[in-house]
Order: sequence, then structure tokens, then C-alpha cells
Amino acid sequence: MALPGLLSMILPVLVGVAVLFSTFVRAQDTTDPTALVGDPKRGKIVFQRVGYCVNCHGWAGDGQSGRNPLSHAAAANLRETKLDAQGLFDVIRCGIPGTEMPFHDGASYKDGRCFGMLMSDYDADSKPVTGNTMRTQDIMNVVAYLQSAVIGKGKPNYEECAAYFDAHADTACAYLKSN
Ligand code: HEC
Repeated sequence: MALPGLLSMILPVLVGVAVLFSTFVRAQDTTDPTALVGDPKRGKIVFQRVGYCVNCHGWAGDGQSGRNPLSHAAAANLRETKLDAQGLFDVIRCGIPGTEMPFHDGASYKDGRCFGMLMSDYDADSKPVTGNTMRTQDIMNVVAYLQSAVIGKGKPNYEECAAYFDAHADTACAYLKSN
């Protein structure tokens, strides 16, 4: 009887995979960030290339500097935000319905996790804007980045710009050199 033998061999593996999978699913629950620690270095990448925050908020997060001219509205000045980590997390997760600020949690407005609302509860002109879906960890990382490099930093200067653009500082930050 080869089958029960085989089964007894693969069963523990199957159980293991199931356990792994269930922790994975729990880790994807984006409503409770408290168990996660954000990494500002990775958060910078989220700011630039995962959430494209930079397109609207600008490299400096001030809603002005180096903002993509194709984005329609000037975004909030994140350097002056009063939001704490939880507040930032919630805004990034849920967006700000009725504005251009997109939401980044794939389940937002599907299960009521944001303001108890579903997408169908909104009128056409106030529907939340869909952004790139991010993992909870990505949201925590970009929050850590904002807290370490953006919030409360005052007027953007050359040094900060050079640190942001690294190898491209010469061209990207020339406009700040005369200051
Ligand atoms: C399509 C443009 C756009 C993108 C992309 C975008 N935002 Fe925004 N964001 C806005 C606008 C516009 C507002 C201001 C909304 C309002 O009128 O209150 C805003 C507001 C915010 C606020 C609230 C600030 C406060 O003090 O109330 C935070 C925090 C924020 N954005 C973070 C981010 C992060 C982080 C990302 C990337 C993951 C991001 N945004 C991507 C346009 C954008």
C-alpha cells in the first residue's frame, strides 16, 4: 500500500503549507499596523516607485517641489502635516474620498474597513480614487520614511535634495543651489 505511506509523508507538508498560508493571510490584514515596524529606506522606494506619492506630493513632500506637472492638483504639504503614525497610515490606506488622494489597500471600500463605507455608497464625483495596492508593510515603510525624512523638515534645501536624488543631484537639485 504505497498511497497511505505517501500520504503520511506529504500530510505534514500540507499542514505546514496551510499554517504558513493562514499567517500570510493574517499578515495581509491591513487594518492593524501595530505589529509592524516601518523601514524608512524601503519607504523611500514606496514613496518614489510603489505609491508614486512623489508625482503629486513632490520629492520634498511639500506638494510643490519637483511635482509632476501632469498631476492635476497640488497635493497636501506633508512636511507640515499634523498626522501621527496611525493617522498617516489611515490616510494612505483609505485615501481621502472626494480628493485626488488615492487609497492603497486593495480591500478598502470592499468590506467597510474605511469609514464603514463601500464604493457603492459614494456618488460618482466623490468616489475614492484607487491607487496602487500595497502591502501593510509598504504602508508602514512609507510612514516611517515620512516621519524620518519629510515631516517637520521646514523648507527643502540643496543637501536634502541631493540626498534624495543621489547620483542625479546635479541636474535635479541645481535649482536649489543659488539659495
Ligand atoms: C494623485 C495624486 C496623489 C498621490 C499619488 C498621492 N497623494 Fe497624498 N494627497 C493628495 C492630495 C490632493 C491630498 C490633499 C487632499 C485634501 O484636499 O485634503 C493628499 C493628502 C495626503 C495626506 C494627508 C495630509 C494631511 O495632513 O491631511 C497624506 C498623509 C498623504 N497624502 C500621503 C500620501 C502618500 C504617502 C502617498 C503615496 C503612497 C500619496 N499621498 C499619494 C494627492 C496625492
